[in-house]
Amino acid sequence: MIDFYLNGRRQQCADVPAETSLLELLRTHLGKNGTKEGCASGDCGACTVAIGELDAQGELEYRSANACILPAHQVAGCHLVTVEGLARSENPHSAQSHSSPLPSQLHPAQAAMVDHHGSQCGFCTPGIVMSLFTLYEQQRRAPAPLTQQRLEEVLGGNLCRCTGYRPIRDAALAMGNYPDFQLAWADDTELAGNLAGLRSDVYVAPQSYAMPQDIATLRELKRQRPKAKLVAGGTDLWLETTQRLETLDDIIDVHQVAELRTIDETADGWWIGAAVTLSELSPLFAEHFPAFEHLLHRFASSQIRNHGTLGGNIANASPIGDGPPVLLALKAHLRLDGPDGARELALEDFFLDYRKTALAENEFIAAIFVPRPAADHNLKVWKLSKRREDDISAVLAAFTWRLDNGVLRDVRLAFGGMAAIPLRATATEASLEGRAPDSAAFAAARQTLGEELTPMSDVRGSAEYRSTAASNLLERLRLMIEADSQASQATDNNNSAIKNSKIKVTLDAYAH
Ligand SMILES: Cc1cc2nc3c(=O)[nH]c(=O)nc-3n(C[C@H](O)[C@H](O)[C@H](O)COP(=O)(O)OP(=O)(O)OC[C@H]3O[C@@H](n4cnc5c(N)ncnc54)[C@H](O)[C@@H]3O)c2cc1C
Ligand code: FES
Ligand code: FES
Repeated sequence: MIDFYLNGRRQQCADVPAETSLLELLRTHLGKNGTKEGCASGDCGACTVAIGELDAQGELEYRSANACILPAHQVAGCHLVTVEGLARSENPHSAQSHSSPLPSQLHPAQAAMVDHHGSQCGFCTPGIVMSLFTLYEQQRRAPAPLTQQRLEEVLGGNLCRCTGYRPIRDAALAMGNYPDFQLAWADDTELAGNLAGLRSDVYVAPQSYAMPQDIATLRELKRQRPKAKLVAGGTDLWLETTQRLETLDDIIDVHQVAELRTIDETADGWWIGAAVTLSELSPLFAEHFPAFEHLLHRFASSQIRNHGTLGGNIANASPIGDGPPVLLALKAHLRLDGPDGARELALEDFFLDYRKTALAENEFIAAIFVPRPAADHNLKVWKLSKRREDDISAVLAAFTWRLDNGVLRDVRLAFGGMAAIPLRATATEASLEGRAPDSAAFAAARQTLGEELTPMSDVRGSAEYRSTAASNLLERLRLMIEADSQASQATDNNNSAIKNSKIKVTLDAYAH
């Protein structure tokens, strides 16, 4: 039984097969057809809905999701908002006048889309409105400037094939100017309490879709059903049913396992629970690994990042996954767990061959350890893809190094898209270790890299393109280190000029 709230009303759906997507639940089981299906693969955003969950203060926080690849069972205990839930049937602002030709009972996200001609084909409009709704809610909770970056962040997962982004952007910028709007379900003061009640109920899932809440239950389930597929955010796994039409009839959902949902800080680094979402990782990365955080902005879309996890990204073992090369460069290791106990494994020993990993059938990834970086440690990440927003990498390069008395130390060069697995270019690393970062050292390193890695050709890039691009990224690293050292030299000269002028001023003062 999936017990949840839909647009403010309690909804109980019985006998929902394990592989049902949220979109299918809405359109087929509940007859709610406002949410559209475009691609059924998380790419276009037509199916965007908002999922409300209680935050630490007990307030509802809404995040966007792609309903087409979200397991329907994951909305249990949540408040699901679809495009049908925004407008009010009565008009709470009838006394207020506004330029909109439509009645003001439309939500500001809808009214602004109408006023700014943001709805063109109409097919993608419900998804765009729902993304704008999540932005509106974010602004209501914590108002902040609507920068270009934020708008790209919110709308990057909504494709408008008629290229009408300008009016959509105008609508996003304008919706905050509309009269304050009370959603119909906002009148229900008991909604948050009712949701808390639902969450604390033991989830009665069908046998084919287990949703354990703690690691002990997960271990036991893995013991009983070692072949069951694990799902976290579903942003990779659900494509098996929507794109490859495979049957998913034995699922263990890890997204609520408490021990997999935490980030534990130690003196040496951070244990990141495998089911922590990519969006939740942003603050940690922004503080300690800004280059990794920067990459997250180019990792899929906010709809995907709100549900996709780091554990899923690693377990999926795609040669073009974005997380693994960065984690390889950062010397991450994993804690694998299961009914036979836990073990730790360096990330580089995890990937064995194309989509083959060292995970035993009855094991799962419990957490990822990312060591605390040294003060003089550098991380640079470059992602090459055909499109800037919401696209998979052709090549991803993650480089770490230190400069010690003018020579390179602790060089780690990791790549995605350059082999059947994400991997480090260890011979190239060795060729740079202890060398000054000059043209000669990097020319030799580029030569070694060409011999060391043999990329594949696919729709994202030919082997030749990938080899050239990876080699050029090494050269880019050299130029960046050179530019940085020139900049710090200039700062040193500037500082010593200021210091000298201060001494002079002081001496001049004595002279008078
Ligand atoms: C439109 C779109 C864009 C995307 N863009 C990117 C991108 O830019 N970069 C990128 O790297 N990826 C991208 N992805 C892929 C995907 O979003 C990521 O790999 C994501 O991190 C997967 O996490 P998840 O929690 O959704 O995994 P799921 O789909 O839930 O699981 C993925 C795999 O991992 C297994 N698994 C999950 N959790 C565990 C665990 N704890 N232990 C063991 N096995 C586990 C599952 O059984 C499954 O085989 C994209 C996907 C889509 C649909
Ligand atoms: S239908 Fe395209 S993202 Fe869901
Ligand atoms: S609004 Fe649908 S393609 Fe632009």
